[in-house]
Amino acid sequence: MEKVVSLCKRRGFIYPGSEIYGGLTGTWDYGPAGTLLKKNIKDEWWKFTVQKRSDVVGVDAAIMMNPTVWEKSGHLAAFTDPLVECKKCHQRFRADKEEEIKAHEKSHKEKVEWTKPQKFNLLVKAYLGIIEGEQSEIFLRGEITQGAFVNFENVISSTRVKIPFGIAQTGKAFRNEITPGNFTFRSREFEQMELEFFVRPQDSEGNKWFEYWKEQRMNWYVSLGIKKEKLRFREHRDDERAHYARKAEDIEYDAPFGWSEFEGIHHRGDWDLSRHNLSYVDETGKKFTPWVIETSGGVDRALLFFLIDAYSEDGERKILKLSPKLAPYKVAVFPLLANKEELVGQARKIYENLRENMMVAWDERGNIGKRYFAQDEVGTPFCVTVDFQTLEDKTVTVRDRDTAKQERIEIDKLGRYFIEKLK
Ligand code: GAP
Repeated sequence: MEKVVSLCKRRGFIYPGSEIYGGLTGTWDYGPAGTLLKKNIKDEWWKFTVQKRSDVVGVDAAIMMNPTVWEKSGHLAAFTDPLVECKKCHQRFRADKEEEIKAHEKSHKEKVEWTKPQKFNLLVKAYLGIIEGEQSEIFLRGEITQGAFVNFENVISSTRVKIPFGIAQTGKAFRNEITPGNFTFRSREFEQMELEFFVRPQDSEGNKWFEYWKEQRMNWYVSLGIKKEKLRFREHRDDERAHYARKAEDIEYDAPFGWSEFEGIHHRGDWDLSRHNLSYVDETGKKFTPWVIETSGGVDRALLFFLIDAYSEDGERKILKLSPKLAPYKVAVFPLLANKEELVGQARKIYENLRENMMVAWDERGNIGKRYFAQDEVGTPFCVTVDFQTLEDKTVTVRDRDTAKQERIEIDKLGRYFIEKLK
């Protein structure tokens, strides 16, 4: 874990939020490589969930919503974690996180006494309006989900969706987590990628789609390179299920800090639509309240686990074996020597051509070995070097990140070569 955290800072994936002012607990900023990785994760998710399906459409709802939304959704009353306070040092913890409680008890020499668990609401408050005293209290959304429900009727009347269908969305959510921690794993500001899939209200329908989406989501992580043996499903016990869920299973990853939730698959029944007084009329004129099967993944958690899973070492070499689909830069281009104009000019042409279609890195500092090492650490699948042979026969060296093998490719064939390799 420490190795990944330090690589994230060193190579521009993740920095502590507002670092120059001492940071802000539970917030993180993404650097140049991290921003690209995050974008690629969301793009792959979108392609899988919306672009390649004819039964799902997307929305992008506002973060600030009418506070009635949170009353109706049940979040004002029930979006709580049990909070306990250490009577010695007054630090606060989640009562349901046994390991964190035990670790805190160990940090004191004498026996620790705790206050009784209190319900702590996780919604983050904000104030809208310009006149003090007349400002209205709102909540930053605690889940992006409600944006799909409040637009349920708008989507039906402005598109051709017919049940079963889904509304997909990615975006920021905010939670006043009692103990943010494990790097970006538990943050106070994070991003989610969610699908709300509406089905007819029958047990068989609900269960069929629940199982279907569980498999789809698991396969998505595996297709993007996460090792199968590091993933599992875990069903929620009755006492840990969210207030809206009839049934819930997590996709968990075997993280360095233990098996941890990647994504939740929730059977929300008719909880949300009936609370918002929304219904659906089918082609026969029958009116009913659909059930909802939800897949809710964290973009930041996915990014962290993709990084942890891809991290490997080969002697001194640290390699991020990210799927080429996710890699921040697909190719890096180098002139063998920075002070040879012909080499730089030729490399520059290749660089400009390739970046019409993909993110390409450029490096002319230090020696070639160091440049390869740097690209391995950000996970760039291929490096192209323009050398003296290039000037004679118009070929370049292409070096593969995972095997470190090199081959000569004609410049004219590079574009097609990478399209094939990066599929
Ligand atoms: N709409 C349902 C929902 O929000 P959730 O299980 O509370 O369900 C879904 O959250 C996903 O959002 C989690 O599986 C996780 O990936 C991500 N997530 C939740 N809280 C988070 C936090 N504090 N920091 C980072 N990611 C978080």
